[in-house]
Amino acid sequence: MAENGNRAKIRLNHLRQIYYIRNQQTKRLEEFVALDDFSLSIAEGAFIAIVGPSGCGQSTLLDIVAGLARSKGGGTIEIDGRNVAKPALDRGFIMQGYALFPWRNVLRNVEYGLEVKGVSRKKRPEIARKYIDLVELTGFEERYPNELSGGMRQRVAIARALAYDPVVLLMDEPFAAVDAQTRETMQDELLDIQGKANKTVLFVTHSIEEAVLLADRVVVMTPRPGRIRRIVDITLPRPRTNADMRASADYGVLVRRIWELLHDVEPTERGGAATASGGDIADEIDLSAVL
Ligand SMILES: Nc1ncnc2c1ncn2[C@@H]1O[C@H](COP(=O)(O)OP(=O)(O)O)[C@@H](O)[C@H]1O
Ligand SMILES: [Mg+2]
Repeated sequence: MAENGNRAKIRLNHLRQIYYIRNQQTKRLEEFVALDDFSLSIAEGAFIAIVGPSGCGQSTLLDIVAGLARSKGGGTIEIDGRNVAKPALDRGFIMQGYALFPWRNVLRNVEYGLEVKGVSRKKRPEIARKYIDLVELTGFEERYPNELSGGMRQRVAIARALAYDPVVLLMDEPFAAVDAQTRETMQDELLDIQGKANKTVLFVTHSIEEAVLLADRVVVMTPRPGRIRRIVDITLPRPRTNADMRASADYGVLVRRIWELLHDVEPTERGGAATASGGDIADEIDLSAVL
């Protein structure tokens, strides 16, 4: 089913990335494998979080999927069954630095992708306002990025990416630059937005808690070279919020399970469902299966 199934929205096939680094002793260029044999099938509307130690190739992966970095080392990316290699509006990219245009106000920032897409001048504000409303920034349309808080800027970036209706949202540590409290608010908002917009999301984070809170599946990476170590199913009920999760024992068990995978320690015996083989909340699946 996994190989021939046509339900996968995104299919990443054996992605590998090599960088050439100069060895300071020999002065020769040496191959450095930043990402190795990364294969994943992602179902429409699925929220996939990728966690791993710093430098394990998470940003490299998203850059390749976005088409911002050409894969040196091979592999292919399919979206809706089509091979993609270059950036296009089928993929919305949200990075941690917001990347808003400082000379455009909120409305004009959100309209940007619509312009590129060729939506008529008359229709753009209407669509943009809908997404500004979705991220709860109605009333701030005329503000410029430097007149907004970090959290608000990040919401503008999300509205901008959603407005041009990409098939896939790629998010690289989008909340890393905001304070802890704003981060929780942003997470709750993203959960809410995702519930309404139902986008397929590939979300990179170094926070295990964030990954478990947001995702349907968490991909745990290994360091050097970055490979998939394990995929953990997050079957916590939705809708979710930070408040619900803090009160959920299953959430704690999943966080612990992923922590153990990242730190390469044996699963704890006590701790219940996530550690039992065939446990119902942390059901590790075959990598080739459609997520
Ligand atoms: N352009 C580059 N040239 C050489 N090495 C790079 C380049 N970009 C990233 N790397 C290396 O590849 C590894 C993965 O980088 P990256 O994908 O940014 O990691 P992270 O998982 O922290 O996002 C790191 O060891 C990094 O130093
Ligand atoms: Mg990174």
